[in-house]
Amino acid sequence: MTMKEKIEKIRKSLEEDIKSVTSSRECQELKVKYFGKKGLITELTSNMKELSIEEKKEVGRISNEIKNEVTTKINQLEESLKEKELNEKLESERIDISLPSKKLKRGSRHPFQRIIEDVEDFFVSMGYDVVDGPELETDENCFQRLNVPLGHPARDAQDTFYIDPEFLLRTQTSSVQARAMQENEEKTPIRMICPGKVYRRDDDATHSHQFGQVEGLVIDKDVSLADLKGTLELFAKKMLGENTKVRFRPSFFPFTEPSVEVDVTCFKCGGKGCPLCKQTGWIEVLGAGMVHPNVLEMGGYDPKVWTGFAFGTGLDRFAMFRYEIPDIRYLYTNDIRFLEQFDRKDEENEIK
Ligand code: DAH
Repeated sequence: MTMKEKIEKIRKSLEEDIKSVTSSRECQELKVKYFGKKGLITELTSNMKELSIEEKKEVGRISNEIKNEVTTKINQLEESLKEKELNEKLESERIDISLPSKKLKRGSRHPFQRIIEDVEDFFVSMGYDVVDGPELETDENCFQRLNVPLGHPARDAQDTFYIDPEFLLRTQTSSVQARAMQENEEKTPIRMICPGKVYRRDDDATHSHQFGQVEGLVIDKDVSLADLKGTLELFAKKMLGENTKVRFRPSFFPFTEPSVEVDVTCFKCGGKGCPLCKQTGWIEVLGAGMVHPNVLEMGGYDPKVWTGFAFGTGLDRFAMFRYEIPDIRYLYTNDIRFLEQFDRKDEENEIK
């Protein structure tokens, strides 16, 4: 085959190849086919050794020409294919920024949690510590150290889940009073609240076997019933509104003496009388009193030196009052239809 024929062959073959190449990757393969070790163009100059100088010059010139020609053609083809591929990629990966986004559902604070946080805010602002105690408690802390010895009739009022004769699920956060006094080894003044869960063997619309309480305990020198009243008055206003009034009724709790039950003016009717307050204008919300000398003594505080007050209240009741929740069990069953009603907007309207 003469040089001319060989070049003609290369041109023809390139023409055919260019027609069938469809991607920039195939262009790379083409380059190998023509310029690789055994490539068609490489072959042109493979037997140069046998040629004369004149012939070498001629073959070199001609093969350079065809080399440039093939390079240019393949490069042009590669460029246009690359551009086409990029456009296709841009098209297929296009993001439509005008599409509406998926709605992210925002959660909101559980009504029970809102009450706890409000209670904590109030008492922390008054200098109280927020403390914690175990739900699995000893009979000793839940009853005995609160002046309720074994066999005491007051145990009947709190039907208890016993684990064994020594351990139980606490029926009242008052157990944390006993703990706070024992744990304070230096016997310094105490000012604490303890919100938490308690358990009793109840189950109806207003009682659940699990519910929330908050306990308060203040021990210092010269603490009086007036301090208790002032504190609870401010507390009631914070929780139920500025116009709320408070009244104390004499009562009995084994761990306080004197003991009181605390009513607040009905926040629904303002005290005029309505179905919620059973036409009395008042709603009972708290148990409280001056810490019983026996309780102080068992906690290591000399009752001749120290005095204190304590109070305890159900947190669920506050949530039920504030949000008009008819059944306490709604607070614990995590029904999404119930929870969705407490969106963020209504937090802005809450009593602060
Ligand atoms: N622990 C009582 C209960 O569960 C409530 C209570 C009453 C707590 C009087 C107190 C208190 O601290 O002084 O019914």
